[in-house]
Amino acid sequence: RKDVGILAMDIYFPPTSVQQEELEAYDGASKGKYTIGLGQDCMAFCTELEDVISMSLTVITSLLEKYQIDPKQIGRLEVGSETVIDKSKSIKTWLMQIFEECGNTDVEGVDSTNACYGGTAALFNCVNWVESSSWDGRYGVVVCTDSAVYAEGPARPTGGAGAIAMLIGPNAPISFESKYRGTHMTHVYDFYKPNLASEYPVVDGKLSQTCYLMALDSCYKHFCSKYEKFEGKQFSISDADYFVFHSPYNKLVQKSFARLYFNDFLRSASSVEKDGREKLEPFSTLTGDESYQNRELEKTSQQVAKHLYDEKVQPSTLLPKQIGNMYTASIYAAFASLLHNKHSTLVNQRVVMFSYGSGLSSTMFSFKLQEGQHPFSLSNIAAVLNVSEKLKARHVFTPEKFVETLKLMEHRYGAKDFVTSKDTSLLSPGTFYLTNVDHMYRRYYVKK
Ligand code: ACO
Repeated sequence: RKDVGILAMDIYFPPTSVQQEELEAYDGASKGKYTIGLGQDCMAFCTELEDVISMSLTVITSLLEKYQIDPKQIGRLEVGSETVIDKSKSIKTWLMQIFEECGNTDVEGVDSTNACYGGTAALFNCVNWVESSSWDGRYGVVVCTDSAVYAEGPARPTGGAGAIAMLIGPNAPISFESKYRGTHMTHVYDFYKPNLASEYPVVDGKLSQTCYLMALDSCYKHFCSKYEKFEGKQFSISDADYFVFHSPYNKLVQKSFARLYFNDFLRSASSVEKDGREKLEPFSTLTGDESYQNRELEKTSQQVAKHLYDEKVQPSTLLPKQIGNMYTASIYAAFASLLHNKHSTLVNQRVVMFSYGSGLSSTMFSFKLQEGQHPFSLSNIAAVLNVSEKLKARHVFTPEKFVETLKLMEHRYGAKDFVTSKDTSLLSPGTFYLTNVDHMYRRYYVKK
């Protein structure tokens, strides 16, 4: 099987959002903290009408319709999510409604969970299935769906919500270069959800940033050494056209790319020019641990890598800045932003992806891009994603309304016996929404 990878994509995010500039003022944070400090513009969130199940019903239905795929042609459906609605019943089983209706119950796959990494695990499962002897010739579908909400405090502006669906098969315009993968997995308490009665995580913000950067270094090291083994030459930033990162907030993405540049400097890679070498020289003797805490290094490396960041990273930052952290969907929404911005010039280019999930699990992997054939072409995927229109169609809520919504959702989490609002005016036609949860906790959804 040749060129197994992503044939088609679609994205859905709630139409309800809050502006970071307004939230900043409402929270009493200093001006610029969320917009410049964290690098975020806007944040999407679910009202009582939507959740991870409704968003994934919406995005899969849309994917199948827009690319005219018969649900019978799907042989595997994998879900990545860290938003727990039921401790036993997988999100995948709710999604089976779409396939059952068409007489297709022969669909493998369940949910994968580990913080923001579940989507990547789901994607690897699907790709491995298509490459394996158990593949039956049909397509795989991967859905990443999450609603990221935090308790009041510094983490709250780093929430977000959305779902991404990807169709997997051979001869894909976005294919995996599987032999170069680099993985780093360890046991840490940086971000976790031990309180089963609450949707909010327990988070050690500073530790989670350091864990993210350490994981990045380790994955990059493994990725480079595999590349070198197969290609017989050193890998550096100049061997990839774009770098796409899991994006909890944009500032961390800026720091991450600078960190890759610093790695290249330490490895004496040709990607680092004279100016960069001179400015980074004073930091060359820091130990690994010291280097994560050194603010001067952070600033200097961001500054010397800035021109490369603008070229290789910036085009993938649109949706994560506008929607916020979509957890499992975040890295794929970043990739969707790249397709949106650059689809006409991506042929034969290499995109390096870095997926991180707290706890922790992380992998660096890469895609090779081709134009592909309609409907599975880069230009058609960009048209279906329809990013500009979807962003324009959003409604901005006041911070008061946002906080009120989160309060209501706190009560609704794990609750039974309630009906949701009848006002669905903000949802566009084709959107699934929750109508009620009955006395047996059974959830009911309809399509607008
Ligand atoms: N203007 C411009 N910048 C400002 C301003 C201002 N007025 N005020 C602060 N800043 C900057 C700070 O300098 C800092 O940037 P820097 O790191 O480049 O120096 C940034 O804004 C953040 O401010 P801090 O005070 O350092 O951080 P804070 O205590 O507010 O918390 C954090 C930020 C840790 C990211 C918090 O939002 C959090 O815990 N988020 C959730 C955890 C997370 O997303 N972790 C990432 C990986 S794990 C995952 O994906 C869930």
